[in-house]
Amino acid sequence: MRNDLAKILLGEEEIQKRVRELGAELARDYVGLEPTLVCILKGAVMFYADLCRAIPIQVNMDFMAVSSYGNRTKSSGEVEIRKDLSRPIDGRHVIIVEDIMDSGFTLSYLSRVLASRGAASVKICTLLDKPERRAPGITVKADYFGFTIGNEFVVGYGLDYAERYRNLPYIGVLRPEIYENN
Ligand code: PRP
Repeated sequence: MRNDLAKILLGEEEIQKRVRELGAELARDYVGLEPTLVCILKGAVMFYADLCRAIPIQVNMDFMAVSSYGNRTKSSGEVEIRKDLSRPIDGRHVIIVEDIMDSGFTLSYLSRVLASRGAASVKICTLLDKPERRAPGITVKADYFGFTIGNEFVVGYGLDYAERYRNLPYIGVLRPEIYENN
């Protein structure tokens, strides 16, 4: 897999250090509130598992799957819920945990939907933010983020290209010839 990458953008140590910082910050902000951390499958799975273990207060864990752009490298703007939460969230403090904020359609849609279900609060925690890619009219912002990155095609630590590379323990930039002509 390493040969398919142009470079490693964020190494294991750097990611783990930042995740520990985010965990400590969330623990301070949510002490006594027992928030529900919502993992957005599948991309956020690695970040979510590490982040939850870096938060030394009570939290609830739940999972959602949404689909935005399948195997393509550009977002269509359409979001569909493929797997919903297992428990109601009315009155609960919700933290949406994502791997990447790109066009922003997914998080814009999800924060609206979860707020409409009567959550006490809804915040966004994304590992990566690609602000250059934000779609016109999308105003949603991450309340917590790990790293701001440029407009590069990144894979690893949960992020995929055509379902591959999610199991890399670091984040790399995919070589263009891997996804061009596909
Ligand atoms: C990716 C990523 C976010 C979304 C971000 O998910 O995990 O959910 O796209 O893009 P946006 O800001 O343009 O909406 P994807 O649909 O690729 O599914 P996956 O998490 O299962 O890989």
